[in-house]
Amino acid sequence: HNRLILDTDGGVDDAQALLMLIANGRAPDAITTVFGNVGLDAATRNILSTLAVADIDIPVHVGAERPLTQPVIDAKYIHGEDGLGGAPRPAHAPQTAGIDAIGFLRRTLREAAAGGEKVDILMIGPLTNLALALRLEANIVSGIGQLTIMGGSVYGRGNTTPAAEFNIYADPEAAAVVFGADIETVVVPWEPCVTHYMVGADVDALFAPLPECPAKAFSQALARHARQTIAGYGGGDAFRFVDPFAAAVVIEPEIITKSITASVDVALAPGITRGMTVVDPSGRLGTPMVTLVEEARIERLVALYQASIAYAPTPR
Ligand code: BDR
Ligand code: CA
Repeated sequence: HNRLILDTDGGVDDAQALLMLIANGRAPDAITTVFGNVGLDAATRNILSTLAVADIDIPVHVGAERPLTQPVIDAKYIHGEDGLGGAPRPAHAPQTAGIDAIGFLRRTLREAAAGGEKVDILMIGPLTNLALALRLEANIVSGIGQLTIMGGSVYGRGNTTPAAEFNIYADPEAAAVVFGADIETVVVPWEPCVTHYMVGADVDALFAPLPECPAKAFSQALARHARQTIAGYGGGDAFRFVDPFAAAVVIEPEIITKSITASVDVALAPGITRGMTVVDPSGRLGTPMVTLVEEARIERLVALYQASIAYAPTPR
């Protein structure tokens, strides 16, 4: 495997995505944080708490606190005031490695490129950090192996506006920079996040046999919050994976059963289409380099998720 950097905005499903990577043998080598579901400080704190839950040491580099051009938005109405839906967190959490995410990305990718190495990146928040790094140093693309993104939509259906998904809508200019770069990219768009879900009772059945422990309480609280949010929006008792879906694609690319290859651009004009991903399989907008997931093996998604809720750090 290539080394892996996780770029995250520290929301409810981000925390579970990180646990999924750790529990399934693809723990990130480093993490960069970004504003998004909550503000940057809360996002970073949530990631540090998640590392404490898993009792694992991974360097966390703090990134952008705001989008390239527009004002900050958040999704506290989805993720709760703390960004983790009030999940119980350990009293102590590790420190960050510094406030140098953009410099860290540049350095790491530059050195990888110079050494003939590639680094994979998984982005599950707004695309601001990588966009800033690419703007300052375009050559770093040659140090990127596979870029995986949870964001955008394949057929124009958004979750934040009718046309735009949150991670893109939160910084459309950054998304345009990233999708405009020459990078082999896999996208988990919003639509398959809606169609790949578990019914609530099946989630309860996964947790029921597990012995009580802080890690279980943490994941259970995240799942409960996610289910309540969906129910609150009239979606019934369902659990959607979302960011863990993208993590699963990194852990086990074979779970993808249907996808399309296209080029992707981002609508930037003000109005109802701002932040919409424009997906072009025809090649008219550029060389198709983006694989957009449409369907995946749900039983593997469930299995990878199950491993991450049962993940118990080795007692010291
Ligand atoms: C995306 O936005 C956030 O709410 C989730 O963590 C995910 O990254 C879904 O639109
Ligand atoms: Ca996220």
